[in-house]
Amino acid sequence: MQIEIVSNSPVFTRNLGKKFSTVLSKGDIILFTGELGGGKTTFISGLAVGFGLRGNLSSPSFTILNEYRIDNTRKFIHADLYRLENMKEIDGIGLEDYFYDEISIICIEWGDRIKDNIEKDYLEINFSYLIDESSNGTKRRIVFTSSNKYWDIKLSGCEKMFMEDGR
Ligand SMILES: Nc1ncnc2c1ncn2[C@@H]1O[C@H](COP(=O)(O)OP(=O)(O)OP(=O)(O)O)[C@@H](O)[C@H]1O
Ligand SMILES: [Mg+2]
Repeated sequence: MQIEIVSNSPVFTRNLGKKFSTVLSKGDIILFTGELGGGKTTFISGLAVGFGLRGNLSSPSFTILNEYRIDNTRKFIHADLYRLENMKEIDGIGLEDYFYDEISIICIEWGDRIKDNIEKDYLEINFSYLIDESSNGTKRRIVFTSSNKYWDIKLSGCEKMFMEDGR
């Protein structure tokens, strides 16, 4: 299943992330793919707001992975594989341990780098620039793609929610 959304501003993208946080549960894995500056971190910072995490989400670019505690039963994991040199390094950060710890919600920027190595169901969210006459560089296409039943069901519940005004 696929849902395509056009975002006109960083605020819209952030709000979309905030809304989307409400459907996420422990064990969920989301791969963020697409262009540099597409809005992946912006969306994820909206998710963090939705989880009640305060302050600015620091980019994990240098650390590759940041772990936040949402509450007593849930963790939020934000990874960014942009600077990853090779697959061995992934083993080193212990990302996979979070997949199976049963308390983590995991967001992975540049997730296409490990796509082929993930055995659990995941959702992909792709970000790309949309250039048209009316855009002043702030238009983005955000495409949610599920290829398994678990995420199909979740996504179908999101369609209506996404359409509600959040600009
Ligand atoms: N509609 C939009 N949605 C999200 N960000 C937008 C939008 N329009 C403009 N921007 C700007 O684009 C940039 C997006 O940066 P962001 O760090 O979220 O992207 P990213 O996909 O995480 O990049 P990277 O690939 O470097 O990790 C920000 O400077 C933001 O203000
Ligand atoms: Mg980013």
